Amino acid sequence: SALQLPAYFKEDRQQTIIVVDVLRASTTITTAIYNGAKEMIVVEKLQEAMDYAEKGYLVGAERKALRCDFARFGNSPYEYQPEIVHDKTLVFTTTNGTKCIERAFSIGAKKVYIGGIINLEQATNQLLRDNNDIIVLAAGWNDTIGLEDCIYAGAIAEKLIQKGAIIEMSDGTFAMRELWQIHGQNDQDLIKYIANTEHYKRMKKAGVVGDVPYCLTQNDKMPFLEVRKEMGKYLCRM
Ligand code: MLT
Repeated sequence: SALQLPAYFKEDRQQTIIVVDVLRASTTITTAIYNGAKEMIVVEKLQEAMDYAEKGYLVGAERKALRCDFARFGNSPYEYQPEIVHDKTLVFTTTNGTKCIERAFSIGAKKVYIGGIINLEQATNQLLRDNNDIIVLAAGWNDTIGLEDCIYAGAIAEKLIQKGAIIEMSDGTFAMRELWQIHGQNDQDLIKYIANTEHYKRMKKAGVVGDVPYCLTQNDKMPFLEVRKEMGKYLCRM
């Protein structure tokens, strides 16, 4: 879980944390910025998001896979179309993904990035340039495991190895990499595999399962965003 992950965290090694919530928060943040939003302010608490909405900000808010009534958007990447978000400051809160961003900073990460299947290519290039230790903070659901986020960790390991990085192979990395090698070789296989997961079922019940193929499809154009903490705010921008 997000709370247990700091066991892997070694403060003296200045680690990078990749926050990943493949379905769907990290995919949606990445898409909104790619589609031209000026920035996204990420907040953990609903009340904070409501306060921003009252001040006139465009707010995206999701709980239990559904859009919150007060918000303009939910957590579907398709809602954040260029003509709506262009040059706008957005505010965003989700059930699990956004709170992991705050946690990543609170445990002292040197750098925090937003990872997803959609931005794997740009992620690996950036991580090779940074050359830091990496922790994947998998959002999951209410501090339980989410297979879609675990398989992402395997994908990152595999792609870094393919590009020549030397990886210290923990049992966790080994297991996640195998998951990716078996189920992540093409988009269709991956979609079929992820259809077995708890979150897929949750999304199906909420009627939002149409977002899944997009969230599981790699796109070399999608940016790997660094989150910055500025004046107490968590900001994602290009
Ligand atoms: C989350 O933050 O828990 C998710 O992104 C949930 C969702 O799919 O809306």
